[in-house]
Amino acid sequence: MQNPNDQSRMDKIVSLAKRRGFIFQSSEIYGGLNGFWDYGPLGVALKRNLKDAWWHDMVSGHDELATLTGAPSPYEMTGLDCTIIMHPQVWKCSGHFDLFHDWMIDCRESKRRYRYDHLHGRWAAHRGKKVFVTTDASGDEAAPETVARAQKFFGLRAKQVDEIEWGGGLESLQQAIAAGSATLADTLGPDAAAPGTLTEPREFNLMFETRIGALAGDDDDRAFLRPETAQGIFVNFKNVLDTSRVRVPFGIAQVGKSFRNEITPRNFTFRSREFEQMEIEFFCPPSASAEWYRFWRDRRWRWYLDLGLTEGKLQLREHAADELSHYSVGTADIEYAFPFLGPGEFGELEGIAHRGDFDLRSHMEGKLVRKDGELVLETGPDGKPRHKGSGKDLSYFDDITRERYVPHVIEPSAGADRATLAFLCDAYHEDEVPDEDGKPRSRTVMKLHPRLAPVKAAILPLVKKDGMPEVAVDLYRALKPHMACQYDEKGSVGRRYARQDEAGTPWCLTIDGQTLTDKTVTLRDRDSLVQQRVPLDEVVAMLRDKLR
Ligand code: GAP
Repeated sequence: MQNPNDQSRMDKIVSLAKRRGFIFQSSEIYGGLNGFWDYGPLGVALKRNLKDAWWHDMVSGHDELATLTGAPSPYEMTGLDCTIIMHPQVWKCSGHFDLFHDWMIDCRESKRRYRYDHLHGRWAAHRGKKVFVTTDASGDEAAPETVARAQKFFGLRAKQVDEIEWGGGLESLQQAIAAGSATLADTLGPDAAAPGTLTEPREFNLMFETRIGALAGDDDDRAFLRPETAQGIFVNFKNVLDTSRVRVPFGIAQVGKSFRNEITPRNFTFRSREFEQMEIEFFCPPSASAEWYRFWRDRRWRWYLDLGLTEGKLQLREHAADELSHYSVGTADIEYAFPFLGPGEFGELEGIAHRGDFDLRSHMEGKLVRKDGELVLETGPDGKPRHKGSGKDLSYFDDITRERYVPHVIEPSAGADRATLAFLCDAYHEDEVPDEDGKPRSRTVMKLHPRLAPVKAAILPLVKKDGMPEVAVDLYRALKPHMACQYDEKGSVGRRYARQDEAGTPWCLTIDGQTLTDKTVTLRDRDSLVQQRVPLDEVVAMLRDKLR
């Protein structure tokens, strides 16, 4: 069994992703752009299939008449597609303008910038000299990195490394400084040669800023690229209510790009500066919101399992009270053990948050803050609202119960790129298969769920003669309207299978001499390697059935 937390495994996945056209670095011919990624021919299909599966399972395929397991009642689902640039007041009322920041720290010597909470370090001493050695590496790489840094700092040879005295294990620099057990003056920055080169931490807003209009110049023209798709849904809540026949409880879904000017993008596409989200804002009566929160948490967990993510590598983690956002009543993260993380570490795929009435009230009243356990309007020194809301009534009147209330929101918020990366990592397998002569040959195979696989079937004439290509082309044309399939006649059949295995194609159909006589083809299953003869005229129905 492969170790799920294994950097070399990650390196192989990144290399396959590039070699086979899943993911490329953006603007690569100009040296690339950190934190931006392009999806190649196979990657675009994989990510589209993932988003389509999400939209189908959550929205278009949702049965509004049924009460799903764990749901308090039936519910409706609808969708939106909002702009990336919105009125700047949206971000002031939502809190992003004031609060959506990370702490960054600069190194005066190396001129590099780090996220404060990403730096870890430990005390190292040698012959009376002491330094707090830091690194921005994560997972398994962090501890060896501090050893290498300390060795260099003290000017030791490899065999002298044991002479270093360590004052405990790795700890967060932020926490060590807060606790007073380290100071910036003693700290050796991750890329510095001497201690004391790190600046005081500073806040850095993660929203990308732009200007609207040709005469842009003053502050009124400032606009932001959305850092989440959610706000477009909140500000359209009334539009949706007024123009469709939805009743609370109901959900609005949106898939689209979001932008965050991450200080240190890292781990392939995991933390990018431009990425896609798949978000649902689910509006429900306050009295049933706790039940709806549990329903969505469990439903979203099951979705990843149903699409084949290995259960042992997934974790559902409820946030502790001190981790919750100031508006959140409860939040759970669905996390995956990505191979670039250390043993026992997980990275977030999706957050399911109970947001109470924070969002709708913010866009009615203005920016809210929590005071004595209550959400209240934040005011400036003049007593006026710090950021004024729209003043529009976003409450809901239930004409059956005759109640008026501001709905509570449950928000399952998933990252399309993170999920794509998790499915890529989970699908990656190395095993051995017999070649054409029966000898074992090692293969790399992407065991993607058929719904996600970029290509569902490959049609392979055994040889380029004897009428086989003609039969294969007919089969390709019969299958193509129903699913993504490929015709491939180049190279030995073994090489063609290998190409399809790496692309994650679940089924290969081989047309051979027997096909010409009995009108059957060989159907090869990517995972079990079972090969069976199937009547040619049943292939389309059979594969459509398997896909369903
Ligand atoms: N509306 C709530 C919200 O945006 P979030 O936890 O900040 O919550 C939701 O983001 C999801 O978006 C994350 O679980 C993750 O999958 C994805 N995501 C967030 N930042 C990302 C980044 N820099 N790169 C890739 N995906 C990201």
